[in-house]
Amino acid sequence: MKYIPVKNLQDKVNETVNVRGWLHHVRQQGRLIFLVIRDPIGGYVQAVVKSKTIGEVAFKEAEKLTRETAVTAEGVVKKDDRAPYIGLELQITKIDPVIRYASPELEYEIRPDSGPQVLLDKRHLVLRGEQASNIMRFRDLITRAFREFFFQREFVEVAPSTIVQTQVEGGSTLFAFKYFDHEAYLTQSSQLYLETVLPSLGNVFCVLPSFRAEKSRTRRHLTEYTHIEAEMPWYEFEELLDFMEDMIIYVYTKAKETPILEKFNPSLDIPSKPFELVTYEQAIDLLREYRIKGESETYLEYGDEIPEGPERALVDRIGSPTFLTHFPKGMKPFYMKLNPQNPEVMNAADLLIPNVGEIIGGSQREDDLDILLERMKEEGLDSKPYYWYIDQRKYGTVPHSGFGLGLERQVQGLLNLDHIREACLYPRLINRATP
Ligand code: 4AD
Repeated sequence: MKYIPVKNLQDKVNETVNVRGWLHHVRQQGRLIFLVIRDPIGGYVQAVVKSKTIGEVAFKEAEKLTRETAVTAEGVVKKDDRAPYIGLELQITKIDPVIRYASPELEYEIRPDSGPQVLLDKRHLVLRGEQASNIMRFRDLITRAFREFFFQREFVEVAPSTIVQTQVEGGSTLFAFKYFDHEAYLTQSSQLYLETVLPSLGNVFCVLPSFRAEKSRTRRHLTEYTHIEAEMPWYEFEELLDFMEDMIIYVYTKAKETPILEKFNPSLDIPSKPFELVTYEQAIDLLREYRIKGESETYLEYGDEIPEGPERALVDRIGSPTFLTHFPKGMKPFYMKLNPQNPEVMNAADLLIPNVGEIIGGSQREDDLDILLERMKEEGLDSKPYYWYIDQRKYGTVPHSGFGLGLERQVQGLLNLDHIREACLYPRLINRATP
């Protein structure tokens, strides 16, 4: 039997075809049953079962069909401008459940007013909905766009282990576990490993999970997220900014081409170069100028971390992707390069986008062995377990830069989603690792 994908039905008007999929909606109106069939590649088509057409016995069987039953169906394709989705209706001549009995009535209805915990418990069913599956398809597309961008520039994709014994982004957010007789962690970032292959592979990137044991209950924090990280030899700070701009423009352009974006965030603008750039010092002044206060209802002072709320308020006010740069030394990790003109600040740039705030953390890396060791000491890090990282500075060190981007935050920003949990298949949050 040849089953036609819903997307090809336009060419089959007035013909009899076979389709298969799941019953996305079921509604009976007297002697008519209206169905929506969702096919395996995400097409939706309205179908109608009439007792007149299929006969009384088959109609009685069809009345037993419930939502999410998998079916095979035969029908005549009819043009109908009132039909939702593709303006076609399938007039069913035969319909059978794939399993001999129909699925039990869904004991659970997903409604827009179902609370977030219920929706998360039922995530496996929520994912069958149009909203969630559109987001997952969009996420796939964006992941491809990043990969395309890297491959076009001849990057090599690598996959460092996510089981590690060194920290990257501070000890407080490490998930530690027993690795046989030793302590190990789930990685916070693959950056340090990417740096080790620069002399052999050149420009490299990875798309891997990172883990953060962050007790943050915000709309943009996950405990496990997909981290797109890249590292480039010979790149100094300005080249890093330029690269990130090109990448973001490429991904936004791809996003803008999809009908899914149109549904979620039609007013998204593709940013143009150069992006807004605000140094940390300027940001502290701007926050005061825009009357944006910190968590304790006071204005932030130089040296304070800029928390999520004010950071987002700042970029929402600016209204387009913005680099926040030159953080004071000590505010960011040991591996970031101190600015040669002003060693009190770092050659670091976060990229902030409206509705989310930070989506990228990037920097030039400290390539000087002595300064690196000094910085590790200042941060209270024992350099011994990092011997493999430090060796990079002994054997052929070069200026280099890189960054990490949170894929879910990028999707959240592009689609204007309220919460980052909507951008993952099965979100891992501070109080949830199920399903
Ligand atoms: O700024 P972060 O901590 O930087 C690093 O990990 C660098 N070592 C990356 C690198 O240079 N290769 O994290 C980078 C990005 C953030 O900008 C954010 O988008 C995302 O990772 N991120 C999170 N996303 C979701 N939930 C969390 N808890 C996240 N923590 C960081």
